[in-house]
Parts: sequence; C-alpha cells; structure tokens
Amino acid sequence: MLFRSLVAFAAIVGAFGQTTNTNAAISDIVSNLDVAVHHAIPTISFRRKTHGDPPLLKVTLQANHTATDGTVGTQVNNLIASFNSATAALAGTAVSSGSTTDRPTNDDVSIVFSDVMQQVASGLSGLTDTVVPTFTAMISRLDPAVAATTNQLNTTLPGAVILVHRMMLDAQQFLVREGAWPQTLAALGF
Ligand SMILES: *[C@@H]1O[C@H](CO)[C@@H](O)[C@H](O)[C@H]1NC(C)=O
Ligand SMILES: *[C@@H]1O[C@H](CO)[C@@H](O)[C@H](O)[C@H]1NC(C)=O
Repeated sequence: MLFRSLVAFAAIVGAFGQTTNTNAAISDIVSNLDVAVHHAIPTISFRRKTHGDPPLLKVTLQANHTATDGTVGTQVNNLIASFNSATAALAGTAVSSGSTTDRPTNDDVSIVFSDVMQQVASGLSGLTDTVVPTFTAMISRLDPAVAATTNQLNTTLPGAVILVHRMMLDAQQFLVREGAWPQTLAALGF
C-alpha cells in the first residue's frame, strides 16, 4: 500500500516534469544495507588491522577454518535478503532530483554504497570452492541481488553509480577474479 502510493506520488511528480529531493530516504536505505553488510561480511572473511602493531586477526569463520557451505551459506542468504530489501525500498522511493549541496548529497550516498560494494568485493575474495565447495554457486545467487540494488540505486538517484564505478576501479578486480559476478560488474559499468 505504502509502496503503491509512493509509486503514484512518483508518477504525479513525473507528470509535472519535476522531481523532489529524496536523498534522505535513499541514504537511510543505503546506510541500513551498509550496516547489514558490515555485520555479515566480517563473519565470513577475516580483517587485518591496517594500522598499528601487531596486525590483529579477527577470529572468524575463514580465519578459524570453520568456513563451510553451511556457515558461509547462512551469511550469503542474509546478504541476499538485505540486498533484496534495499532494492524494494529504493523502488518504492520517488526518483530523487538529488543535491550536490544539501546533506546527504549525491556523493554522500554514492560513498556509502561504494563501501557496501568494497565490503562485498574484498570480503568474499579469500574464499574458493576448495574451502567452500558451493561458493561459486552461492555467489551466482548473490550476483543478481547485488546487481538489482545497484541498478535500482542508479534509477532512484540517477547517476549515483558513476561515482561508485570510479571508487570501484581497484576493488572490481576481486569480482573479476571470483568469476561469478557478471551482472554486478555490468551494473557498475565494468
Ligand atoms: C569460528 O568463528 C566463528 C565466528 O566468529 C565462531 O562463531 C565460531 O565459534 C568459531 N569456531 C571456532 C572453532 O573457534
Ligand atoms: C547510471 O545512470 C547514469 C545517468 O542516469 C547513466 O549515464 C549510466 O549509464 C548509468 N549506469 C552506470 C553503470 O553508471
């Protein structure tokens, strides 16, 4: 019902050739996704502290060799659910006129989404089918969900992915190496 009235609202706004700045709503959705990803990913992979001494290893599934189809699969399913929720919420938000001055700015939103993508790209990069036999199959289920959110973000905040693309120039190599992210790479413009 809420979704339908938002769509109707977007249509009315569109009919008058005007859009409204919905960046605050978009930012909330992307920030919630970022929190969910930060919760799921460190459980899967390990993080090395980049500054300070000595490097700290977070005891996680991968570091303590308990990464299995079951343990990783649960987190991948959580990620898919989080991306699907974000896609639906973004689709239910009126297309934003955006702003380069009012917070959250277009860049603010893109930077948070870039963090989501960096986590997804590098956080899963240590896993292979040797450790987790169905890993590639799991990523193939995650890929369309991540691509859908990316495409919907670029629709609800037109052009938001352009900055994400630039910020992913380095990290996209992880997605390429894993070999199971064709839709996400395309959605990011690679
Ligand atoms: C491995 O790490 C996970 C995530 O922190 C934890 O739930 C699990 O109990 C750990 N297993 C062992 C054997 O340390
Ligand atoms: C995102 O949207 C912009 C502007 O609407 C468009 O030019 C671009 O091709 C879209 N896709 C990507 C990957 O940037």
